Amino acid sequence: MANLDILTYPDKFLRKNTIPIENINGALQTIFDNMAATMYKAPGIGLAAPQVGIGQSFIIYDIMQQEEGHDLRVLVNPTIITREGEILSENEGCLSLPEFRADVKRAERVLVEGVDRDGNPLRFEAEGMHAVVIQHELDHLNGILFIDYVSALKRQMYNRKVKKEMKKQ
Ligand code: NI
Repeated sequence: MANLDILTYPDKFLRKNTIPIENINGALQTIFDNMAATMYKAPGIGLAAPQVGIGQSFIIYDIMQQEEGHDLRVLVNPTIITREGEILSENEGCLSLPEFRADVKRAERVLVEGVDRDGNPLRFEAEGMHAVVIQHELDHLNGILFIDYVSALKRQMYNRKVKKEMKKQ
């Protein structure tokens, strides 16, 4: 399995909307596997297609602690049908925003529809950490990054840091 490059902020590709997948073929299955390998290696708990330069609507995630084994989920063309409650996602992070962490308000429960990696329809409710990951990854499919939810000051500080890093390279 190949390791893929993860695009990082402020790469403009991360701001694009994705298009739905019409046909899940072998090539796409390979991409799912390569993305999973990339996510586990990073390590991260979720990865959305735009983060590896793919403008299509799917995410992968695994919220299991590694010592308990893997539980890889693939969600194709996902949508959130309903959101309920509120939860503070503490110290949220993103593989496309290295070294950036922030607390973000998220819905506590979400009802999700989509299809799995074999094209079977899915409809399920997620809550807590599971709901947070789904909301974070689905945002990526709409060009939204969690840095959009923080204060302007915190965002400016990170922007400055990123600019400095880019100058060094
Ligand atoms: Ni992310």
